Amino acid sequence: MPRDKTAAAYRVHIETFGCQMNEYDTELVRALLKAEGFALTDDRERADVVLMNTCAIRENAHNKVYGHLADLKAIKRQRSLVVGVLGCMAQNLKKELMETESIVDVLVGPDSYRRLPDLIAQAIEAQEQGLAHKGIAVDLSEYETYEDILPERAEGVNAWIAVMRGCDNFCTFCVVPYTRGRERSRDPQGIIREAEHLAAHGYKQVTLLGQNVNSYRYEDWDFARLITAVAEIPGIERVRFTSPHPKDFPPALLDAVAGHPNICKHIHLPLQSGNDRILQMMNRTYTCKEYLDLVDDIRRRRSDIALTTDIICGFCTETEEEFLDTYLTMQEVGYHAAFIFKYSERKNTIAARKYPDDVPDTVKSDRVTRLVELQKAISLEKNREMIGRTVPVLVEGDAKKSSAQWMGRTDSNITVVWEKRGSSARPGDLVPMTISRVSATTLFGEERPPS
Ligand code: 5AD
Ligand code: SF4
Repeated sequence: MPRDKTAAAYRVHIETFGCQMNEYDTELVRALLKAEGFALTDDRERADVVLMNTCAIRENAHNKVYGHLADLKAIKRQRSLVVGVLGCMAQNLKKELMETESIVDVLVGPDSYRRLPDLIAQAIEAQEQGLAHKGIAVDLSEYETYEDILPERAEGVNAWIAVMRGCDNFCTFCVVPYTRGRERSRDPQGIIREAEHLAAHGYKQVTLLGQNVNSYRYEDWDFARLITAVAEIPGIERVRFTSPHPKDFPPALLDAVAGHPNICKHIHLPLQSGNDRILQMMNRTYTCKEYLDLVDDIRRRRSDIALTTDIICGFCTETEEEFLDTYLTMQEVGYHAAFIFKYSERKNTIAARKYPDDVPDTVKSDRVTRLVELQKAISLEKNREMIGRTVPVLVEGDAKKSSAQWMGRTDSNITVVWEKRGSSARPGDLVPMTISRVSATTLFGEERPPS
């Protein structure tokens, strides 16, 4: 840092791409920067430092970041600006980003955020002296969980808590084990203290996060014990978790989800493919039959647990018949919602090294379209079953399309929208809503007056 200035003289703006874990990491980064005295700003135009917390999971995530870097290049031609790339792309593309993107001053991977304030200070100083300088911290750690850092959270109804980081599963398509390193879990006592603190500050919902959240393990604590302990905290009305792997659903976890009133009746259960040969090539470690048995186990416990999923279309060598297995499996399960992706080859992954990315892009797109259409029809049908029913909805805030409407979610994570007029609800309230009409993605309803 220049001697005549303190960190408070520099405004930092952070843009976040990708998953909820990145949103959480941005909150950690905000806390780390604030502790060192930096000022944070929402206004990119007035920022002295712009950081991008990036995602590497698919090609289009990369493209977005490259687009923003081009914008920053234009700004940097006109005035001094420190540009930092954080997160998964920083970890994965360190060489490319440093060599070809000359405007990047600081590059910090997901396990090295503690070094960020120093690296920014050095970059500012170098820039003010007109020196060329690059600050890089991309070491992965087997231990870093940032458990002593209280994230600088956005206000609202929901708070994220990362309970584990990294992934050891090595699905062959996935870059995460390389960008976020090995699995490690946080001490449960720290997690519980943090959730109590959140409840005391008015958060009504906690979402437990991890790349592979249900493989959480700390001494004799497993995920079922952890989520139950968090759900028991007075004031926390709803607990969610994401993203789990189908291989880590012991009966105790299913019992916790089905039985505890504060654990939401929603399980995200990524299928990826409904074909055994493809599942094996993906290293998902389950067959389609084993997956469907798990779905049965869940529904036998409680038929109202909503299931959602992730699907990849056009993975290496996938034939039309194999794709149809996925189609049929989705029909059979009847998910509430599904995230459907085109396979996107990621450098250095096992699939990139072992298999040809040989399904033409047009075929991948066509398969995605067919599954999206199928899912729309299923979601619409599931939502129609809700018409006339009254369900508790947690009010989150204004609806996206109009500030004259509230938006909230059912326990099963479906979005509900209703008119504010005549409503005394406030964000954080749990209100009974009677559903009157639906679309494939949204329920519309009326607040039931208290009887
Ligand atoms: N191509 C397409 N989709 C991918 N996902 C992960 N890696 C890839 C990839 N290389 C999807 C998976 C995962 C979700 C988070 O992203 O479906 O569950
Ligand atoms: Fe990637 Fe598989 Fe780990 Fe999920 S479980 S982060 S898809 S390697």
